[in-house]
Amino acid sequence: MIYKIFRPTIFQIDPEITHNLAIDFLRFCPKTATLFCLNREYDNLQVKEFGLQFKNPVLMAAGFDKNAQVALTLEKFGFGAVECGTVTPIAQQGNEKPRIFRLKEDKAIINRLGFNNLGADIFAENINEISNKIQIPLGINIGKNKDTENALEDYLPLLERFYNKASYITINISSPNTKNLRDLQKQDHLDLFLNEIMKKKNELKDKNGKDVALLLKVAPDLNLDEQYNIAEIVMKNSVNGMIISNTTIDRNLNLKSKNFSETGGLSGKPLLTKSNDVLKNFYKFTDGKVPLIGVGGISSAADAYEKIKCGASLVQIYSAFIYEGFGLVEKIKKELSKMVEKDGFKNISEAVGVNFNMQKL
Ligand SMILES: Cc1cc2nc3c(=O)[nH]c(=O)nc-3n(C[C@H](O)[C@H](O)[C@H](O)COP(=O)(O)O)c2cc1C
Repeated sequence: MIYKIFRPTIFQIDPEITHNLAIDFLRFCPKTATLFCLNREYDNLQVKEFGLQFKNPVLMAAGFDKNAQVALTLEKFGFGAVECGTVTPIAQQGNEKPRIFRLKEDKAIINRLGFNNLGADIFAENINEISNKIQIPLGINIGKNKDTENALEDYLPLLERFYNKASYITINISSPNTKNLRDLQKQDHLDLFLNEIMKKKNELKDKNGKDVALLLKVAPDLNLDEQYNIAEIVMKNSVNGMIISNTTIDRNLNLKSKNFSETGGLSGKPLLTKSNDVLKNFYKFTDGKVPLIGVGGISSAADAYEKIKCGASLVQIYSAFIYEGFGLVEKIKKELSKMVEKDGFKNISEAVGVNFNMQKL
């Protein structure tokens, strides 16, 4: 409500400047920022997944808190978990500005940030500050520096560095804004890549006596064969879960805003159907045996519920907060809880994949 009053003014400011101001506000004025948060939890929304307990299935997606500066404040908005990053080993500036664009008429965003972040050293300092205080699962999303040719040289050390600090780790190979990154999703590369990643994970598991889930985040622009192959490779390598999906490079989505032709990854409302289709396919190809986090285009409880019915155990949101503010988390939880009850489920986990199960009957 309050956000909506300020939104027209906020939207006069450049999107990246707005983002940085928002991070500073959440970081330095956490009490003011969360003054009106109710932070209610609902028994029927509790989820157990990846050996973790989530108070609710509504998670903050990666890319908002790239440097792990505001996770404690985000927790107060009522998220079930917060995913920080993408962090790369060395700090990098990212692409030239401007590189974030609002598509207001479409309630969408295009970004071509290119993994701008302060690097793993500062990220580690920030994580050390919060890891003993945060009471919800903390995801860490890792990526590679722009100039690194052998991706494993970046992913393996990051995995090792953050293994003990994270509740789960996301292997991000699906940003469209780092040249050739998405090629890692190709069959030949992926099997080898995930084999090395999982080998490292198992070493770390034995060494630390702690099993931290590794999730693979994929693009929504994969064709059916590619999706099938990735699902097979994920299962073969016993990857713990998947995040579906990152932003899209597709522009055939009936976009109305003038910024539609900007290069980069598109997120927000127009991504919903496309990412749901990919989610359904992965649920089917993995036989519902690999837990999936659904992300892309959620802006209401109905959207979140639909993703869960398509096979997601948990959901993540980013772009809708730019249009609706963080009050949306509470609203979604409240309505989601009612929807679960109305459908006769004791817990939201019973609704996972029901769309697909009904199709099978
Ligand atoms: C400005 C912006 C920056 C993002 N940065 C990252 C990132 O660093 N790593 C990542 O895995 N995803 C990143 N994403 C993608 C989101 O995590 C999410 O997958 C995507 O936006 C779809 O969800 P949405 O439609 O709810 O925004 C970013 C998205 C936006 C809008």
